[in-house]
Amino acid sequence: MEPTIVSGTEVSNKVKDDIAREVEQIKTQGGKVPHLAAVLVGDDGASRTYVNAKVKACERVGFGSTLVKLDADISEAELLSEVERLNNDPDIDGYIVQLPLPKHIDEQKVTEAIAPEKDVDGFHPVSLGKMLLHLPGFLPATPAGILEMIKHYNIPTEGKHCVVMGRSHIVGSPMSVLMMRNDYPGNCTVTVVHSRTQNLKEITRQADILIVAIGKPEFVTADMVKEGAAVIDVGIHRIDDPSKKSGFRLLGDVKFDEVAPKCAYISPVPGGVGPMTIASLLKNTLLAVSLNQ
Ligand code: GUN
Repeated sequence: MEPTIVSGTEVSNKVKDDIAREVEQIKTQGGKVPHLAAVLVGDDGASRTYVNAKVKACERVGFGSTLVKLDADISEAELLSEVERLNNDPDIDGYIVQLPLPKHIDEQKVTEAIAPEKDVDGFHPVSLGKMLLHLPGFLPATPAGILEMIKHYNIPTEGKHCVVMGRSHIVGSPMSVLMMRNDYPGNCTVTVVHSRTQNLKEITRQADILIVAIGKPEFVTADMVKEGAAVIDVGIHRIDDPSKKSGFRLLGDVKFDEVAPKCAYISPVPGGVGPMTIASLLKNTLLAVSLNQ
């Protein structure tokens, strides 16, 4: 069977084009041009790449953007005062603090210091509570991006068994809630599997929709997947590869080559979930402008 490739590149380009048109309209009408800020602490290579991609995406759609670069040895108090400054800056509609943060800083404390009305990452307890209650608010960017992909490809979800692999606060936990909500995409029977799960393969083999966010390169093999499943790969790993100009290649959590032939739908890495995260972040920033006006 030839699977349908769930192209995050394609869907995210469409989302960005739509946003760019809306920004044009806002500008014509003399409204507030959306402005996203990103805080990067230290110089972790992957984080720098992600943040730069976010800033570039802002430029593409016509948003204002600000990159706040801080030293790895900044104190927690100094970071919190930067957060406070962004909370009070009327030009900044939304902002993110790129994770992970250096070990000496309490990530939860920083996340909770972000004003909920500017929490475009959707990581604040207020945002997560609204998601659980199905109230309007900011959805975490990666899960929201996955919903958008499912919608774009009309992947059936109602009554389906969705197995979410991983229970992180950023992806697995919110994803499980979203796939269970009374909505489309949603209305799934959801199972979450994690590091303590027994008989893992027996469960994943029952999945009509398998969302993989465990952070282990090529962990999911063909024997773990049901014939005709939809597989969404959230993993992204840099593997050293001297034959590449960059010095690395990217792998997902799914062994794509052997899993793909069994699937009805599968998202690749790169070009799958990654670009959708950024598109959702832009959508959330646009929502921030309208919610806060
Ligand atoms: N680190 C990995 N993914 C994300 C994300 O979506 N937002 C932020 N702020 N940090 C991350």
